Amino acid sequence: MLVAMNSGGPDASGRDVKSEVRRIWNRNSAFWDSRMGEGNAFHRVLLLPALERLMEITPGASVLDVACGNGQLSRWMAQRGAHVIAIDISEKQIEAAGARGNSGERKIDYRVIDASDPEALDGLGNTNFDVIVCNMALMDMPDIEPLAKAIPALLRRNGRFVFSVTHPCFNASDMRKVATESEEGGVVKVTCGVEIRRYLTERSEKGLAIAGQPEPQLYFERPLSSLLGAFLRQGLVLNAFEEPAFSNTGEVAAANWFNWQNFKDIPPVIVVRFTRS
Ligand SMILES: C[S@@+](CC[C@H](N)C(=O)[O-])C[C@H]1O[C@@H](n2cnc3c(N)ncnc32)[C@H](O)[C@@H]1O
Repeated sequence: MLVAMNSGGPDASGRDVKSEVRRIWNRNSAFWDSRMGEGNAFHRVLLLPALERLMEITPGASVLDVACGNGQLSRWMAQRGAHVIAIDISEKQIEAAGARGNSGERKIDYRVIDASDPEALDGLGNTNFDVIVCNMALMDMPDIEPLAKAIPALLRRNGRFVFSVTHPCFNASDMRKVATESEEGGVVKVTCGVEIRRYLTERSEKGLAIAGQPEPQLYFERPLSSLLGAFLRQGLVLNAFEEPAFSNTGEVAAANWFNWQNFKDIPPVIVVRFTRS
């Protein structure tokens, strides 16, 4: 399904896009919580080492977790002594996060907030945060401009904004995974790769975050120039960019050829850090 990008306005069928995002995440919340738990393998093996390097969480750090889902990353940060405010547009996700409680000594402040609502972001307070993180969620938001505009005021000087998303070049909705078999020196070899047909055109499609989820969610796909440009235009400085792949992890190949663990030379995600000078 194609819907409007860069707006909270109606899609082609007249529905409000943000309400539709919220409705779908509410519906998928229990399934997401059961599969994500305190971080699934994709998160723990692929994302977390890069997030840890780029966020540099220290005890006492003040952190805003944007689009926190069931709060698994918030709890990981609280365990390391961070004071965390965790926000999400879906009240069911926030309920699920709250039901899992806190870990460590720090109480996490979970709130239902739309990260594309400028007034709500303004209400989080000025220059409060050492770190703002948005893990695997910018591609779930129809409009990232309000968040980009709010970040310079929310971050303290030299504060860090770290985000991860599905890799805009290799892990988008109409990408096709391919496995080819070849024989080299009498040895049969299977190589996994991706085929890409489009990249530059911003668009929205429905897709699955986790196979078996009750309803496909809306993805909003942007090329790197739009994605990074939204934050560069606000004067933020890009100072770290990682493309983790399972090749670096030593993870055992999965039985299913099309599992990302078999794509040794294709990164499924990017992890990016901006700072405020
Ligand atoms: C793929 S989940 C990631 C959850 C969490 N960051 C994690 O890593 O486990 C995407 C989350 O983005 C949230 N979301 C989507 N649009 C949002 C918005 N405009 N404001 C806040 N949260 C939003 C969804 O409700 C969902 O919980």
